[in-house]
Amino acid sequence: MAASPDVLRRSAFLSTFAHQGAVYLYHDLYGYLLQMSPDLVEFIDQFAEPRTVADVVAAHADRFEGQAQQFVDVFYQHACLVEPDDDERAGIWPMIAIKGKWNVWRRHGDRLTIYTAWGDRPIQRIELDPIDTAIWDACDGEIRLNELRAKHDAKRVAALVHRLTHSSVQALKLSAFPMSMYAKRPALTPSYVTSTMPYPSWAPGQPLDAPVTDVATDGYYQQVADAEQQFDHTETTLSHLFRVQHPALGGRTYGEALVGAFLDRLPAHRVRVLEIGGGLGYVAKAVCEALIAAGREVTYTIQEISPQLAEAQRARTAGLPVVVQLGDVLAAEHPADGYDLILSNEMVGDLPAVQLQRADVGLTAEGGEVDPALLAGLGRPGELVRDLGISLDDAPDPFYLLTGALELMIRIARWLAPEGVAIVTEFGERHMWPKLSSHLDHPELSTHFGHLQTAAITLGLTAKIEFVMDLIDLDRTLDGLATTRSHFRALVALFADAGVALPKVGYTRELLAATAFGKLDLADVGELRWDRIEDRLMGLVPHEFKAVVCRKAGGN
Ligand SMILES: C[S@@+](CC[C@H](N)C(=O)[O-])C[C@H]1O[C@@H](n2cnc3c(N)ncnc32)[C@H](O)[C@@H]1O
Repeated sequence: MAASPDVLRRSAFLSTFAHQGAVYLYHDLYGYLLQMSPDLVEFIDQFAEPRTVADVVAAHADRFEGQAQQFVDVFYQHACLVEPDDDERAGIWPMIAIKGKWNVWRRHGDRLTIYTAWGDRPIQRIELDPIDTAIWDACDGEIRLNELRAKHDAKRVAALVHRLTHSSVQALKLSAFPMSMYAKRPALTPSYVTSTMPYPSWAPGQPLDAPVTDVATDGYYQQVADAEQQFDHTETTLSHLFRVQHPALGGRTYGEALVGAFLDRLPAHRVRVLEIGGGLGYVAKAVCEALIAAGREVTYTIQEISPQLAEAQRARTAGLPVVVQLGDVLAAEHPADGYDLILSNEMVGDLPAVQLQRADVGLTAEGGEVDPALLAGLGRPGELVRDLGISLDDAPDPFYLLTGALELMIRIARWLAPEGVAIVTEFGERHMWPKLSSHLDHPELSTHFGHLQTAAITLGLTAKIEFVMDLIDLDRTLDGLATTRSHFRALVALFADAGVALPKVGYTRELLAATAFGKLDLADVGELRWDRIEDRLMGLVPHEFKAVVCRKAGGN
């Protein structure tokens, strides 16, 4: 790494953003993205005026674990700190412009409109005239801007590149190396080239959300204001993407496909269903209708914490034998042995969890044994571990214990009728300890299915872990549209400008073409990324969704 010069100043082209306690620095000339702590942003700000590096480093000798000089070098390397007389805008010429991964644009003849919708920021339409469009088209991830200016007006190239690398647009990233080099060595691709920054702006001194430790989202769901928006933008579920009759499900909806998987295990006449956390009511409607179509008499109860979502469920299932019971499932009363089918679809990740250290239960980094006295001292989480037989031996440090999901298993075991089936689906793995997702507007944990299975077996149920894709018999040969939330918002705006509504469903090529038909030629729309449907569908990774399927032994 090049040693930094003696005197440096802060670049004039830095923007800062924050999300759930983390701070990000975006270089508006290059698209570099650095995750850092607030005190490092303050450190860079020491160079608001040119400063002698040695002085600033000496003043921070007892900060950053003695690494202040190393940070200066990294910031210099990423042009966040520059020499006082540096003509920063001129630094772009030896670089190569690479198109961002989640760009959205529409071509109209020799012009292009780029759409952006980063996070909750307003939709922007960036109009490129024919000259800009020709420069944009020439940015193929290989050609250096130096070479581009030999073919196009240098001022136009510079102006366009500055406009499109800026954090408000993020359509181009500058790289010292061509994409062809990374194509052969994908692991070497610097993450900023494929990353985007959807989070809100932040400036030093402004409050930051605290980093997440314990997870409790009950308050979050009680506050959901706009039910449809919740699932279309904020938090999409797999069942939401498949709420329409879908080509990958052989023309069935998610709910119909689930019923198909379990129909022969349900009572032949009357089926009592409990759904926990019903979202917009699509699953309830589809399951109820499919059971009725299969000749069953149905009673269907939804236990729902959010008043807004309860309202949406009542409206969607009007005319069907569905009752919505408002309140937290962990505080709810239901009859013991009362349900033949219990569904908890993509909701256990929303239940509370606690974060613990290995030392809290007597384990060391190397191993050790759980100390029953320490476990008892933890109160309810300790009781759950002990009573449900959860092994903590392989827990990382720190670890999350899914107390809410374990409490739910206790209730499911009580409420399930003999011979009944319970299906608990979520994003997670059999052996992986819960991981926190930070991309949502509220913290959410992946599910440790091994723990749910162990709990169910301890509670006297049989329990099998399955891929949700297998339960619903998803056709894995199809391609699915890959989006992020911001990418999809921008696409929705583009489609709306062409007079096409683009509801949030799991688009296959066939479904998207049918949606655009007659109004929009998809050949003029970019960038549509397609992936194997099991690996990515919209913002979800279908193969990461699992189910624990539990049964209660028959009565006598
Ligand atoms: C991610 S959504 C899934 C909705 C739906 N099952 C689906 O597949 O689209 C989670 C649902 O569980 C509800 N929920 C969250 N915590 C709950 C709790 N403690 N008790 C009852 N419902 C809860 C939410 O309001 C929401 O309806």
